[in-house]
Amino acid sequence: MKRIAIFASGTGSNFEEIVKASRTGIISGTVALLVCDKPGALVVEKARALGIDTFVFSPKDYQSKVEFENHILEKLSSFNVDLIALAGYMRLIGETLLREFSGRIINLHPSLLPKYPGKDAVGQALAADETETGITVHFVDEGMDTGPIIDQVKIKIYPNDNYDSLAKRIHEIEHEFFPKVIERVLGGLVNGD
Ligand code: GAR
Repeated sequence: MKRIAIFASGTGSNFEEIVKASRTGIISGTVALLVCDKPGALVVEKARALGIDTFVFSPKDYQSKVEFENHILEKLSSFNVDLIALAGYMRLIGETLLREFSGRIINLHPSLLPKYPGKDAVGQALAADETETGITVHFVDEGMDTGPIIDQVKIKIYPNDNYDSLAKRIHEIEHEFFPKVIERVLGGLVNGD
């Protein structure tokens, strides 16, 4: 069975859904590890409640990104991780992880990339008066939300939408969509090379 590490920095609603999907057979792999760069983030509590091992670190405790990514690599190797799924990991992946996990890191982003990369993609789409936004899952490269797109879903923005209503709808769709894409990537149906 393929082994997945989820990287997350915040609430972890997608993390939780991916774990559930692996336990109900929607995903044929298993979630082996949560990697979190924010001690105290809600996702860490969720992992403990679900019985998932965690590696929680503070980037400020390291001299450089190379140093903390090397520490992450050690953990990934000890947990025999095959695939990294970024689910709200609000940090650019550096060359150390990219080199070792080339074509095996995927990211969930709440916009129709290449539109609205980076932080607050939901707010960016609303501020631009878009009538449509969406969700993208893509392979990670050295850029900010720039790697090859695996799949996208379009989501309507209604005139009476505000940040909360739109963010809630996006999350609900992410919870179904991301596990299915993870399963396709695991099955080798989509190749990032
Ligand atoms: C998700 O909406 C995800 O698309 C977004 O963070 C949220 C995490 O929510 N990711 C990014 O913006 C990445 N640039 P969650 O912690 O409830 O899963």
